[in-house]
Amino acid sequence: MLVGGQGSRLRPLTMSAPKPMLPVAGVPVTAHMLARARDAGITRVVLATSYRAEVFEDYFGDGSAHGLELEYVTETEPLGTGGAIRNVAPKLRGGPDDPIVIFNGDILSGLDIAALVRRHQQTGAAVTLHLTEVGDPRAFGVVPTDADGRVTQFLEKTPDPPTNRINAGCYVFRRSVIDEIPAGRPVSVEREIFPGMLAAGTLVVGYVDSTYWLDLGTPDAFVQGSRDLVTGRIGSSALPGPVGDWLVLPDATVATDAKLGGGSVVGVGAVVGDGATIDGSVIFDGAVIGEGAVVRASVVGAGAVIGAGVALDGVVVGDGARIDPDNELRAGARVFPGAVLGAGAIRFSSDRG
Ligand code: GDD
Ligand code: MG
Repeated sequence: MLVGGQGSRLRPLTMSAPKPMLPVAGVPVTAHMLARARDAGITRVVLATSYRAEVFEDYFGDGSAHGLELEYVTETEPLGTGGAIRNVAPKLRGGPDDPIVIFNGDILSGLDIAALVRRHQQTGAAVTLHLTEVGDPRAFGVVPTDADGRVTQFLEKTPDPPTNRINAGCYVFRRSVIDEIPAGRPVSVEREIFPGMLAAGTLVVGYVDSTYWLDLGTPDAFVQGSRDLVTGRIGSSALPGPVGDWLVLPDATVATDAKLGGGSVVGVGAVVGDGATIDGSVIFDGAVIGEGAVVRASVVGAGAVIGAGVALDGVVVGDGARIDPDNELRAGARVFPGAVLGAGAIRFSSDRG
């Protein structure tokens, strides 16, 4: 599992935790992915870490609490997706023809992993890619196939995509393919390995599975993914509570007349005051939401303090920031960790001039 990226599009959230460790519906993205892998019968996972490597091992340990055997391999310099895969080769078990499943660590997906592996075995492909369809494929790896599912091109982040089928970030590699990736230098599977295999005529197969799929790389997607987990639109055995309209984690305090909904999650030890509304939002551990505040489609970082009467809509508030009473922040606003916004500093007015 590839978990070494920086998550720059999720700043300021990723200033304190690497993207795969940000809590979605109460637990790290990686925990949901690992649960799906385990539920599909996978017993051993190697995490390829780089940025903030230590936090993964601190959280997951040897994996026994998660029903898995976990190992870690850390890159001293980021090796890219292909380099990271090559770098874990010494930890992989099995023979040259055995299937190895590889996951991007920032995806929420309903993929039938066992079916992907079966397809790989049936076709005898060197690599089998999970493909999904998205509205705008330009931010992804675009993957045209022929009628039999054979991949004909791999076009990473192309401005003029010929299809809206994209690389969904889960692959099965024949073990020997991993051993052949150049070692000791940065390599991209998307820009170097896949195009190289196709140029050499190697069989690469695409497996279309159009169940739930989301890359959590942007704040909007991050909030969406959390809501979908809380409401059960995407199932996860790692969800720390029952599916519902909202999820309140242990030791949180929610005033009886506060309104929670839209798949919101309130983190461990967080406080939601009288008359506050939390709608479709992610409130991290220890955050405080003041009386009458209205928080919609937003992320409030760990320990952040949102004053009384504050309105947030489509906003990301970094860890430990303080937004004093009667501020109003709208879509796209990013408050950096520890920042302080004085009372009434920012408001939107509909009755100006
Ligand atoms: N260990 C390690 N080292 N992991 C890395 C590195 C690295 O140098 N660089 C990236 N990763 C991890 C990230 O943490 C993430 O889990 C995964 O590799 C993919 O990196 P992203 O940075 O999230 O890539 P992307 O979302 O722009 O594009 C990738 O995913 C798309 C699907 O979401 C590509 O694989 C696209 O082709 C694909 O469509
Ligand atoms: Mg991504």
